[in-house]
Amino acid sequence: MVPEITVPHPGSYNAVISGTGSYAPPRTLSNEDFAKMLDTSDEWITTRTGIKTRHIAADNETTAQLATEAAVKALADAGLEARDIELIIVATITPEMVFPSTACFVQDMLGAVNAWAFDLLAACSGFVYGVATAREFITSGRYKNALVIGAETLSKITDYEDRASCVLFGDGAGAVVVEQSQDGPLGIVYSSSSSDGSGWTSLNCQAHGSRHPANRPLDDPKKIFMTINGREVYQLAVRRIVEIVGDCLEQCNLTIGDIDMFIPHQMNARIIESVAKRLKLPTERVFINIDRYGNTSSASIPIALDECCREGRVKSGDIVLMVAFGAGLTWGANLVQF
Ligand code: ACO
Repeated sequence: MVPEITVPHPGSYNAVISGTGSYAPPRTLSNEDFAKMLDTSDEWITTRTGIKTRHIAADNETTAQLATEAAVKALADAGLEARDIELIIVATITPEMVFPSTACFVQDMLGAVNAWAFDLLAACSGFVYGVATAREFITSGRYKNALVIGAETLSKITDYEDRASCVLFGDGAGAVVVEQSQDGPLGIVYSSSSSDGSGWTSLNCQAHGSRHPANRPLDDPKKIFMTINGREVYQLAVRRIVEIVGDCLEQCNLTIGDIDMFIPHQMNARIIESVAKRLKLPTERVFINIDRYGNTSSASIPIALDECCREGRVKSGDIVLMVAFGAGLTWGANLVQF
């Protein structure tokens, strides 16, 4: 039975996800490959993270290229042409360059000549923040459609000498088309979004910004890479994700039993399992593909959503909850009826 869903901030229209697409570069790096390069093992990586392999961009492959590949598939799935698109939001922490925005490159590569395009930086929460942003523009009637993309080439800011972090990350892109509608499913019902800037030291990449400008040598050359305090992030992520799921359920007047599919940011299989256990979510309603992708930051949820849809695990009328936690600190969720 379809539950009665409360829409906390209804607009004039629904904002529905009408197409999904994803892309990962063909090259892969397995746990066995890491074991040849570093003091690590498939056993350590698998038991601590659930990751078996990840995709890695070629030297000449860029974030905008990955994003464009995913966007082309999402547009085809939605039955739209690039010139139909009115808004492009690209979430990334590995942009094409400092400026212009990756979204402008994607607009050009797609030929989406009528779109307003901009980037959004919220690390692993970038995609869910992007969906929340697109919803506001579409439910208000300002735009008829939007392309929301999460795309990363994290391999380009990964320190492959740091065994504690390098095994975690992979490259890829995922995209959704969000469209205005007046009947049918409710689409993006509610987005819960939070930030805590005081937690910036847990996860960051410090070079290339105004704190460490290009005209001064870096005090530590490793600042060109991502650094993470894995243990700190682990505990916070579980707590915040459980909290934000509670907020979504309360606001929409639903129970955990009403969630047909839970699509969490793929940061660590143990984090996901711990969250699922606390929420009493059965395994078959939790989507995990981290074994094949690693953590792809903003790309992880849209890649997972696309796979979920293609595997037929999301049906019309289903309620899907997408939840992320990442650097900033940032965390957020989108509750969507398909
Ligand atoms: N292979 C073998 N041993 C390793 C490796 C490795 N790849 N990495 C670390 N170790 C060792 C450590 O050196 C440590 O050894 P010690 O006890 O002798 O000092 C031991 O394993 C345990 O290390 P911990 O860091 O305590 O391991 P933990 O169980 O916490 O797992 C992990 C680490 C997987 C990183 C976990 O904390 C985690 O997943 N955290 C969250 C990940 C995260 O932050 N994701 C977001 C990234 S940011 C973004 O997405 C942009």
